[in-house]
Amino acid sequence: MTVVADIRDGKKNKERSSLDNFQTIVKRLSRQSVEKHFDAYVDIEWDLSENRIDLDDEHWGFWKLDPLNHSSWYHQQSPETQKKLAIARIASIMRIGWEFENLLQRGLLAYAFRLPNGMPEFRYIHHEVIEESHHSMMFQEFVNRTGLPVKGMPPLLKWLAVRVVLPLQFYAPSLFFFFVLGGEDPIDHIQRSQIRSGEGPPIVQKIMKIHVTEEARHLSFARNTLKLKVPELGRTRKFLLGLVVPILMAIMVRLMVYPSRHYCRKNGVPMSAFLEAINSLEAKQLLKDAASKPRKLSFDLGLINPVSTKIWKICGLWDEIKEFED
Ligand SMILES: [Fe+2]
Ligand SMILES: [Fe+2]
Repeated sequence: MTVVADIRDGKKNKERSSLDNFQTIVKRLSRQSVEKHFDAYVDIEWDLSENRIDLDDEHWGFWKLDPLNHSSWYHQQSPETQKKLAIARIASIMRIGWEFENLLQRGLLAYAFRLPNGMPEFRYIHHEVIEESHHSMMFQEFVNRTGLPVKGMPPLLKWLAVRVVLPLQFYAPSLFFFFVLGGEDPIDHIQRSQIRSGEGPPIVQKIMKIHVTEEARHLSFARNTLKLKVPELGRTRKFLLGLVVPILMAIMVRLMVYPSRHYCRKNGVPMSAFLEAINSLEAKQLLKDAASKPRKLSFDLGLINPVSTKIWKICGLWDEIKEFED
């Protein structure tokens, strides 16, 4: 009996210390949100001449990691057409980006709606929702200024996201927070690479820098929520989560990384160019790299087993060489 009681006490102490640790991190994130945050209409001078979205600006081009960079069709286009394609592509990414953020905000608000008094998450979630609102305004302002008929997610995916993904924050919060990582991690990966390259017009560099700074907090919140919640799951739920996460990631990473069907149609990208782009070695590696942080987190949380490894591989998101090096 004493041994059983000791084990139970040990488990309770462990849970208590994980919760304390989580709440300390969340309070720190809230403080950082006050110390450093951005306003879409204060921190970006939209009317500055250097911020105009202008075809004469020779800085326009696909982002370095864009799969379409790896189609011979793109390189056969005139410089003028390449710039048009790049502006429309970046606008399309921004539209899909804010649509994802809109879903994220709705899910987070519904999550906060149920929190009892005194929970530090309540304050942090509201900081995050405010920041995502500024990101959405920033992205849509860019889209509006291109004057292009940009569309975001495919209609079926939007329909499914509202009816299937949003309820997850209630029925399966862990899966909801993996959905959050599935949207935020790939874009973070691409934007960080683009910022490092220093390429592209100043307005896009500015938007990306603002976004990456605030997203670091959002990603930390999602990861730490998962570190708290996943160990609380029973063995069966944990096993099932391990199987569903790579499938969710396969959808999310492609949504964030591949050019959409609407973009290709509107901009005359032939199917052969699309297929050449997504089948290039670089694009295949991009999928793996864009999913590397959620994959590593899955490993740390004990969600990787022989069956889930197979699913990660089938989904094209497993990377043998870099797997869990650090
Ligand atoms: Fe954002
Ligand atoms: Fe975010």
